[in-house]
Amino acid sequence: MLKTHGCGTLRATHAGETVTLAGWVHRRRDHGQLIFIDLRDRDGIVQVVVRPDDHPDAYAVANGVRGEYVLRIVGDVIERSEATRNPNIATGDVEVVATSVEVLNAAKTPPFSVSEDDEVNELVRMQYRYIDLRRSSMIATLELRHRLNQFIRDFMTEQGFLEVETPILVAATPEGARDYVVPSRLTPGAFYALPQAPQQFKQLLMVAGVERYFQIARCFRDEDLRADRQPEFVQLDLEWSFCEEEDILGLLEDLFAGLAAALRPDLTVPRPFPRLSWHEAMERYGSDKPDLRYGLELSDCSDIAEMSGFGVFSSTIARGGRVRGIVMPGGASLSRREVDAFTSLAKTMGAPGLVSLQFSADPSEATADEIRSPVLRHLGIDDARRVGERCGASAGDLVLLAAGAPGMVSTVLDGIRRELARRLDLIDDSILNFGFITDFPLVEWDEESQRWDALHHPFTAPQSEDAHLLNSDPAQVRARAYDTICNGFELGSGSIRIHERELQMQIFELLGVDAEEAQQRFGHMLNAFEYGAPPHGGFAFGIDRVAMLLAGTENIREVIAFPKTMSASDPMTGAPMPITDEQLEELHLRVREAVVVVAE
Ligand code: AMO
Repeated sequence: MLKTHGCGTLRATHAGETVTLAGWVHRRRDHGQLIFIDLRDRDGIVQVVVRPDDHPDAYAVANGVRGEYVLRIVGDVIERSEATRNPNIATGDVEVVATSVEVLNAAKTPPFSVSEDDEVNELVRMQYRYIDLRRSSMIATLELRHRLNQFIRDFMTEQGFLEVETPILVAATPEGARDYVVPSRLTPGAFYALPQAPQQFKQLLMVAGVERYFQIARCFRDEDLRADRQPEFVQLDLEWSFCEEEDILGLLEDLFAGLAAALRPDLTVPRPFPRLSWHEAMERYGSDKPDLRYGLELSDCSDIAEMSGFGVFSSTIARGGRVRGIVMPGGASLSRREVDAFTSLAKTMGAPGLVSLQFSADPSEATADEIRSPVLRHLGIDDARRVGERCGASAGDLVLLAAGAPGMVSTVLDGIRRELARRLDLIDDSILNFGFITDFPLVEWDEESQRWDALHHPFTAPQSEDAHLLNSDPAQVRARAYDTICNGFELGSGSIRIHERELQMQIFELLGVDAEEAQQRFGHMLNAFEYGAPPHGGFAFGIDRVAMLLAGTENIREVIAFPKTMSASDPMTGAPMPITDEQLEELHLRVREAVVVVAE
C-alpha cells in the first residue's frame, strides 16, 4: 500500500506516530512561512502542515501543488493546541507535520470545486461525474447504497431466500413500458430485449423448485423519464412459493422497518404499516400512493352536484363524471389571485378549472355574504352550504372542487392535496410513513387501444371470489396485488401469481392475446405451468427509490453513481452513440435516418 492510514481516520490517539497518507489536495493555504494542505481521501480530511525550515524539500514540492493534485505525504501526527482545534472535522484534534511530500499526479483546475458546496449545473456534474463523486455528500450516498444492498442481502439470506442471477439478453417482457432492444448478429433480423424486470424467470424458478428467490436485479425500461424514473434502475426482486399475501406483506414490513432502523435511526417509522384497499385510497386521497403523513382527505359531492341547478355540475354527473372536493384550512383569507393559482395548477393536470368556495362563517349557517365563490349565483346558497358541510369545512376555510371524469378528478385533487400540504407546512420530514395498498383492480379499460390492460401484469391472479366476473364485468375483478408506498411514493409492487395454465389462458384472452399469440410469446410459461407449478407470489421494489427516501432527495439521479439525463443519455461517455458501418453491416442493420453522426 502507498499509505498506512486513511486521512479521515486520524485521532488524538495517533499522536506521536509517523504515518504515510495518500489522497487529494482538498485545499491549500499558504501562510508565508507555513503551508497548510487539507488532504482528502474516502475516509475524510486531515490537515497537513509543511514547514520550510525543517523540511525544505517537502516545502518546495508543497509550494507547487494545487487543488486536486494527488499526493503522498509522510509525516508525524501531533495533537493540536487547544486554540487551534477544529471541532467541525473528525480529525480536528490533530495535524500531520510533513517530512516528505510527493506528487503522485498533477491535476488541471477542475470544472467545479470539490471543497465548496456550490450549486453546480447538473449536466456539468454528470459530464465530470468522477469529480462530482469526490464530494463528501456523494461518497455518503454511495456508502448508503452499499449498506442498503448489504442489509437486503443479509436479511433475505436469513429468511432462506437464494440469490439467483437471471439473464440480461431476453425475449420482450410485458411490463408495460417500451423495451430496449439488442440486435442479434447470429440471427439476422432478430432482437433480444433487455429485461424490464425478471418476472418470468423468477416464476420459472418457482416451477424449478427454488421456493425462495431474490435478486438485486438491473431492469431496463424505455419510458418517459421523471424525477423518480431512470431508463435503467435496480430492483430488489423476490418470489416465494407456497405463500399468501400475509406472508409477503409481513416479510416486507420487517424488511422496510429493519432497513430504516439500520440506515436512518433518526427517522420514525410508524408500525404496523397502515393498509388501505385501492378503492379506499382512491376515495380518500385520489391516489394509489398517498402521502399518509398528513390528512387533507377528499370528499365526494357528486350527489349534491347531480341535483344542482349549476349546469356544469349536473351535466358532469349525467356524463358519468364526479364532483369531489378538498378543504384548505384557513384558506378563506386567500386573495382572488391566490385562489386562481390553484386553478392554474389544476389546469396543468388536465382539469378545465376548479370551483372555489371561501367560507368566512361555519358552512351550516353561512349567509350569502359569508360565502365567496365565483359560482355562488349558479350553485345557490343551500348547495354551497351543503358542499361546505360535506367537505367538513369550518369558518375560515377554502373548499376547492374538481368536476369531470373520475380519473382526472382524482389526479387533480391528489396534486392539489400535495400542494396544500407543502403550503401549510404539514409534511414532517422526520417520519417514514410506509403503507400497503391492496385489492387493486385486475384490469383497466384502455380507451386508445379499446381493450383491457393488466393493471399490474398479466401473471397476476384474480381474487377467487371475483373470478366469476372475469367474463361479465372484468372492471369489478380485484387482483391479488399489493403495493408498498412511503411518503407519497410507490416503492414497489407485487402479487400472488397465476400458476394454472387454464386461468392464465383465460386472462390472456381477456387482455386480447389470442391462443396462438399466447403460445408464441409465453409458451414457455404456459408449458411450465403443466409440469407441476407450485402456487407462488412475489414482489419487487425500486432500490433507487428507497435510496432516495433514505437519502432525503427527490431526484433519483442523486443516488445513482452514473445516472442518465432526462433524455436517457450519458453526458460523460456520450451514450447512446451511433455505431460504425462495419458494425451495422455485421448486425444486418441499416439506419433510415440519423440525427447524430459518427465522430471520426
Ligand atoms: P413494477 O413494474 O411495479 O413491478 O416495478 C417495481 C418497482 O420498480 C421501481 N421502478 C423504477 N424505478 C426507477 N426507474 C424506473 N423507470 C422504474 N420503474 C419501476 C418502482 C416500482 O415500484 N415484476 C414486477 C414486480 C412483481 O410483480 O413481483 C415489477 O417489476 O419502485
